[in-house]
Amino acid sequence: MARMYLLVGAWLVLCFVSVSSVDVTILDPETLQDGENFADKDSNITYKKIKDDYSYKAAQKVDIGPLETFYGLARSIISTSLPGDFPIDWALKIKDGKLVIGDDWQPLVKDYLGYIIAIAVGLLFIILSPIIGFCFCCCRCCGRCGGGRYIKNPDDAGFEKVCARRAWIIILTVITVMALTGSALMFATNENVSDSLERIKDQDVDKLDDVTAFFDSVIDQTSVLVHDNFNFTWKVLIRDLDNIGYLLGQPIKDDVIQNSGLQATYDEIDSMEVDAKKLNDSLKILNEEKQKLLSAGPKFDTFIDHLQTSINSAITSYPNLTSECPHYNLTSLSFKVDQLPNEVNKSVALSIFLQSGISALTKQSRDDLNAIPERIQNETQSKREDVKNQAGNYTNKIKEITDNVQKIRDDFLGDLDFNNFKKNAKDLMDFGIKYDKYRWYGGIGLACVTLLISLLLGLGLLCGLFGGNAFTDPTERSAISNHGGNILTSAIMLFFIFAWLIMLVTTVLFVAGAPTEKFGCRTLDDLSTLEKVITDLKLVSITSGKSWLGEMIYPGKGVNLSISEVMMACQSGKSAYTSLKMEEGNIFNLSQITDYSQSINFGDQISQFNVNFGGLNITSGPMIDFIDFMTTFDDNMNYTGYDSILNNNKVNQSNTFFKELSDYMKKYPGTQTNLKSINDDLNNELTHGNGSIAKNSIDRIFQALEAIKDVTQKPTNNTLNARSSNLKSNLSHIESQLPKITNDTFRNSISNFESRLKKIFDKFTNDIKQKVENDLGKCTPLWNIYNSVLKESICQSTIGAVNGWWCALGWTIFFLLLSTCSSVVTSKHFFRMKYISDQSSNTHEKEKVHHFKNQVFHTDTNTDKWNNIPHGIRLKPKQPM
Ligand SMILES: *[C@@H]1O[C@H](CO)[C@@H](O)[C@H](O)[C@H]1NC(C)=O
Ligand SMILES: *[C@@H]1O[C@H](CO)[C@@H](O)[C@H](O)[C@H]1NC(C)=O
Ligand SMILES: *[C@@H]1O[C@H](CO)[C@@H](O)[C@H](O)[C@H]1NC(C)=O
Ligand SMILES: *[C@@H]1O[C@H](CO)[C@@H](O)[C@H](O)[C@H]1NC(C)=O
Ligand SMILES: *[C@@H]1O[C@H](CO)[C@@H](O)[C@H](O)[C@H]1NC(C)=O
Ligand SMILES: *[C@@H]1O[C@H](CO)[C@@H](O)[C@H](O)[C@H]1NC(C)=O
Ligand SMILES: *[C@@H]1O[C@H](CO)[C@@H](O)[C@H](O)[C@H]1NC(C)=O
Ligand SMILES: *[C@@H]1O[C@H](CO)[C@@H](O)[C@H](O)[C@H]1NC(C)=O
Ligand SMILES: *[C@@H]1O[C@H](CO)[C@@H](O)[C@H](O)[C@H]1NC(C)=O
Ligand SMILES: *[C@@H]1O[C@H](CO)[C@@H](O)[C@H](O)[C@H]1NC(C)=O
Repeated sequence: MARMYLLVGAWLVLCFVSVSSVDVTILDPETLQDGENFADKDSNITYKKIKDDYSYKAAQKVDIGPLETFYGLARSIISTSLPGDFPIDWALKIKDGKLVIGDDWQPLVKDYLGYIIAIAVGLLFIILSPIIGFCFCCCRCCGRCGGGRYIKNPDDAGFEKVCARRAWIIILTVITVMALTGSALMFATNENVSDSLERIKDQDVDKLDDVTAFFDSVIDQTSVLVHDNFNFTWKVLIRDLDNIGYLLGQPIKDDVIQNSGLQATYDEIDSMEVDAKKLNDSLKILNEEKQKLLSAGPKFDTFIDHLQTSINSAITSYPNLTSECPHYNLTSLSFKVDQLPNEVNKSVALSIFLQSGISALTKQSRDDLNAIPERIQNETQSKREDVKNQAGNYTNKIKEITDNVQKIRDDFLGDLDFNNFKKNAKDLMDFGIKYDKYRWYGGIGLACVTLLISLLLGLGLLCGLFGGNAFTDPTERSAISNHGGNILTSAIMLFFIFAWLIMLVTTVLFVAGAPTEKFGCRTLDDLSTLEKVITDLKLVSITSGKSWLGEMIYPGKGVNLSISEVMMACQSGKSAYTSLKMEEGNIFNLSQITDYSQSINFGDQISQFNVNFGGLNITSGPMIDFIDFMTTFDDNMNYTGYDSILNNNKVNQSNTFFKELSDYMKKYPGTQTNLKSINDDLNNELTHGNGSIAKNSIDRIFQALEAIKDVTQKPTNNTLNARSSNLKSNLSHIESQLPKITNDTFRNSISNFESRLKKIFDKFTNDIKQKVENDLGKCTPLWNIYNSVLKESICQSTIGAVNGWWCALGWTIFFLLLSTCSSVVTSKHFFRMKYISDQSSNTHEKEKVHHFKNQVFHTDTNTDKWNNIPHGIRLKPKQPM
């Protein structure tokens, strides 16, 4: 039972499906929309923009911090000490183990003189500074080298030398400030080295995730491009195929109407409407006037019968009336108005045609031609299904794009175990960071030492500065001033103790950091050099003359691919397909994939469409009736009937008689009295009575008949009859030719439909091509990784910090070295001195102090006082300067 219901249901569904015919007069649906994909009624498709809002970790710039300018100083020092380009020749020699120092040292030294001098100076310093320090120490202990506290003259200790004292204090202050800055930079760069290592571990290693994210985004984009867009394209294609009746049939119908001459026929029929209206108006007049005659005619008859009696009696009185007025016998004519032709049926028929409209008749005929679109719709059904199936096959081909992209991802990421690599890198960084801690402590230690020295210098300066002035007697200088001198001295001692160590660290860092920056980082900066280095040094195994990157990515395909090209393309946001020259690499052949003609040949398919256009009926019944009506119109007019009844009638004769009678009465005035009543009665009837009415009607009837003849018989060589018959024969001729004409038009138009379908697929494949070549997988993330990790984080930040570190060390040590000399000199202005004579007598000194305080130095009067100094002490008399 249930099965039966099911069957009945299925049957009903089938019936419904087969009965529901497509309306070929509209495009359904008129537009298609699916998300941002849109197709208008011309199947002009607008595809959505490719998704491009993926977020990447390497997209942000690495913040190197405020020390960047200082790193620049280190870089310019490196540039000066290591000028020139990447030494490919030397590198090759080293690589091949052909570098023989014995033979090659001269050109090597020539090329890297600056670098070697810098190292030599460093080494010299390391060796000499302890020795000099030791000597200096000894020298001071022996009271030399600014260590002596005994002076012969006060000016030996800078007494009253205001300018000198100030100059030295200022010089030392500047040097101290520079050394302090250097120490601060040491702290900062030391910190930065650790920071950048931490950052590499915490952030940069993770930036490698971008590679995976990039591939995933490409797959995502591809799936949208291929699946969503093809799905939409497919929908548009189906829409057009399902609307073939409207899209192909309607234009064919219009063409057929034009080309077959049907249009001219329809125009001719339409133009007959004017004629028909004229005829209708005339028939109306005929009918109306006939009615008037029917009413006025008998009354006039009665009047005439009555008048004839009067006329007859007048004739007995005036017998010559009969000869003078020959039309006297008015009753001799019959006036059979009721026998006028009946035009009512014609008039009714014509007004019906007119009422429904003549153009409506042609429209009906045109509508009959809708059989053309409907037949195209009905009879191409199965062939259209074939087209759909074949177009569906193209789906598989287009899927190759997604499959290939997936494959590239799997191949590439499969080879590189990123997670493992990241883990190893992080472990390595952990290890490094663990030991970096000790480096950090060391750095802090060194920085503390230089800071301590600088602070001592500063403290010594402050003590000296505020502990006295140039006019304080060197022997009277305050304890604070004296301590200032001592502090400066201890700073010098400290410097000599640590200088070699700091210089050692500086030299080692420079030896390692400078070439790394110069040959490593600068090469990374300049992609073409990098390319040259990799190629010339044969860092990867390549067949000579071929591009190594090309060979690596597409083995054996001979693709000329350079890293600089790729990186530059990626930097400027080119697509992966273009950047990596995938077309040449034949990874997937876009041109081949987008050539859908391999999967579906629209031309072939559509040329197989066949429709039978036989038995088309363009002659609707009412139209033929109208044409027939017009053809026979003139024949159906009984002109003779009108003539015979109306031409020789009583009314005309009465008028003639009236004129004759009036003439008669003028001629024989004696008769006037007797004939006056007849004359007056007749006159009255003919001008105001039924006679006048009848005369009017008769005139109008003749006018209307003339109007009808104007329409039907003029021009004489193309009467209405001829025109209508012509029209009818034309129609039947066209009708017999219609299947052939339609079939021909169909053949000619079908290519339009074919190009419409092709346009849909062309648009899709062009869109894919354009997007794959320009938008799909913009490899900026790859460039960002290179830029952010290698260039910015490792080179500019980490190597930069290391180079900044030695630069800070070098800077500090340079100023501290300067500080030693200036401290020695400056401390002389701070120390409390003793005169050499003090060794024998204290009292003498007191005296002298007094003199010094009150007298101008270097005057002749003082010479005596100098002479008082015991000879053993006075070494050399002071000369005035
Ligand atoms: C298709 O649509 C686009 C955008 O709406 C328009 O610029 C283009 O002229 C259209 N092409 C045709 C053939 O209608
Ligand atoms: C288009 O998408 C719809 C729904 O997502 C799916 O059912 C249909 O199979 C797809 N058609 C093609 C041709 O991919
Ligand atoms: C005709 O009749 C009138 C009136 O009787 C008369 O005067 C006249 O002479 C007649 N004419 C002729 C030619 O007889
Ligand atoms: C007019 O038509 C009626 C019926 O439609 C018919 O009986 C009549 O004879 C016709 N008259 C003429 C004059 O043809
Ligand atoms: C045709 O004539 C009839 C009367 O005979 C009139 O009613 C009708 O309006 C006319 N049609 C046109 C289009 O003039
Ligand atoms: C087309 O098919 C529909 C039913 O599917 C039918 O109703 C219609 O008459 C057919 N038209 C022609 C011109 O064969
Ligand atoms: C590769 O292309 C570059 C320019 O893009 C050209 O200079 C170089 O000679 C080419 N190399 C080969 C092996 O064709
Ligand atoms: C239509 O014309 C083509 C050639 O143009 C012919 O092969 C085909 O048989 C014709 N079809 C019909 C139904 O006449
Ligand atoms: C066309 O149709 C009309 C009326 O519908 C009919 O009178 C005529 O005979 C038909 N012509 C042909 C060729 O079938
Ligand atoms: C024309 O009309 C007259 C007068 O009514 C009539 O006698 C005659 O038979 C008609 N002719 C035709 C052909 O109807």
